[in-house]
Amino acid sequence: MDLITIDAEKCKRDGICVAECPVRLLVLKPDAPTPVLVPGADEICIHCGHCVAVCPHGALSHRDMQPESCPPVRPELTIRPEQAEYFLRSRRSIRTYKKAPVPKDVLSKVIDIARFAPSGHNSQPVKWIMIHDSAELHRLTGMVIDWMRYMCKEHPTMAQPLHMDAVIAGWEAGLDPVCRKAPHLIIAYGDKTNPMAQTASIIALAYAELAAFSMGLGACWAGYFNAAATFWPPLQQALKLPENHVSFGAMMVGYPQYAYHRLPSRKEADIIWR
Ligand SMILES: Cc1cc2nc3c(=O)[nH]c(=O)nc-3n(C[C@H](O)[C@H](O)[C@H](O)COP(=O)(O)O)c2cc1C
Repeated sequence: MDLITIDAEKCKRDGICVAECPVRLLVLKPDAPTPVLVPGADEICIHCGHCVAVCPHGALSHRDMQPESCPPVRPELTIRPEQAEYFLRSRRSIRTYKKAPVPKDVLSKVIDIARFAPSGHNSQPVKWIMIHDSAELHRLTGMVIDWMRYMCKEHPTMAQPLHMDAVIAGWEAGLDPVCRKAPHLIIAYGDKTNPMAQTASIIALAYAELAAFSMGLGACWAGYFNAAATFWPPLQQALKLPENHVSFGAMMVGYPQYAYHRLPSRKEADIIWR
């Protein structure tokens, strides 16, 4: 099967697919009834589906993506700018969670939305670990504390600005300043040799945070956890990541205990206009 097939009866030769293909693998020749593929298109294509999604006539089909498998855009679901601003501004980092676990199908939906985040060359390199078992999360968080104890002893100048001594003291007092007693933790990881993987993982986790918020869940980036997952071999081993794979970000998630009633202010944007 060809990479792209175009139905000559439906094609209006409007050139939209030609203009929108990010790697310009379609060209409109004066003598051809439809756009045609450039030589070597199979190797160039990034499988983003834009050609299928942008054609207003449903004329174009990609080997991996047919118009029928791509849901239509629904203008009635498009949010207004003030809704988008309100949604983005009202998201909060949540640090007090209910004990109740979030069902796996709800968390699966969070990841299912996050996988639509952009990635360089549409490489979609992000992989996920969901620590659903809260006892397991507690055990792993204990390893973060072990790392902090090691850091305070061996690298005090690095431990100090991250307040690791206070985190350890909190943990020893029965608190959890690392994962905030969240019931679950989402980890985005990927191949450390893939130059796209880190950025894509962080963007996908940001999507996950917003998706979780839209579903009534609370989330918070787990920076301490991810630092330990990056630098502390016992935690890396406990996470059982495949060879050459590393954690790029971690996020607590659960049902929020409290509601927020105001939108806090932030610094003015620092913009250089040229
Ligand atoms: C990369 C990153 C790491 C973070 N790590 C932690 C963390 O370990 N613990 C925590 O309580 N909050 C963490 N946060 C949350 C920030 O403190 C929070 O985003 C900031 O205070 C702004 O609050 P808001 O998210 O509610 O707007 C982290 C945020 C980011 C982006």
